[in-house]
Amino acid sequence: MDLDTVKTEAGPRRFSPKDDMPEEYRKAATRMIQFHANSEVMGGYLEKPFIRQAPSLDRKLAFSAKVQDEIGHAQLLYRAAETLGVKTRDEMLDELAAGEGKFLNCFHYPMTDWVETPMIAFFVDGAAMRRQATLKSTSWQPYAHAMDKVCFEEGFHVKHGEDILRELMSGPKATRERVQEAFEEWWPRILQFFGPVNEQSTHHGFASEVGLKTMANDELRQAFLNAYIPKAEKYGLEIPDEPRLIYHEDEGRYEVVEEDLDWDEFWTVAKNDYEGSDEQIGSRRRRQEAVEWVRNAMDSWESASAGAAPQAAD
Ligand SMILES: [Fe+2]
Ligand SMILES: [Fe+2]
Repeated sequence: MDLDTVKTEAGPRRFSPKDDMPEEYRKAATRMIQFHANSEVMGGYLEKPFIRQAPSLDRKLAFSAKVQDEIGHAQLLYRAAETLGVKTRDEMLDELAAGEGKFLNCFHYPMTDWVETPMIAFFVDGAAMRRQATLKSTSWQPYAHAMDKVCFEEGFHVKHGEDILRELMSGPKATRERVQEAFEEWWPRILQFFGPVNEQSTHHGFASEVGLKTMANDELRQAFLNAYIPKAEKYGLEIPDEPRLIYHEDEGRYEVVEEDLDWDEFWTVAKNDYEGSDEQIGSRRRRQEAVEWVRNAMDSWESASAGAAPQAAD
């Protein structure tokens, strides 16, 4: 593709649905937004059981609102992807149910205990906030607009997760130890959330050239570590010795020793081949099948009325 068509002297061009744009741009933007939308759905499904398991009415209400937000984020994003004209929303949802849609590594792992909930609601949502804040200036305008609303709600999610962590870490020693154990299990996955180091990232080069991505994976991971290591320590969590983190005091940044992370597992997860992937995707597939009759009923109504607006009653 001739990159001159997507660049101006001031940087990458911004595109709206009515603009002409290269097919390669449409495909790259669709791939990126579909991945993001799938991740919102799968994150919501991972947390859904905790609406029932929440220990108080307040927590149930907050968890219920959060899960609804995540599914709402997915809908906004599927629409933002659909306007690129490559795939419809239904096609993307079908791909996800069929196990073909890709999504974030953290949402492939099972979450069974309430003490694990801040790992997603605080750390993963905190990491997601970092990435999503930079996407408010992505070059695909419907995506950038969706991010305005999404980031506003993510701010609430992170506060909610932080409050659960604070409460658990103010509890009895046995609870604090269980949270620490959960943290040690989730920490490497959270570090991998931002994906591989830049040289290994397959799509990074093109996506940043055309302004879809505005910050590199490693820069985002740095910003996350600088903000969240002090927060974890503030609540009494100990950062595990492995994977090793080296703090460069002169530059004020952490370096993750990449070889301490299991990249084979990361790539297995990325292909939906991890042992837990089927279970997570299956829960989404069963739900989609269970409401098939609603979609069919709406499709038949639409074709019977040929798209006419419902008549007002006399
Ligand atoms: Fe979200
Ligand atoms: Fe969230």
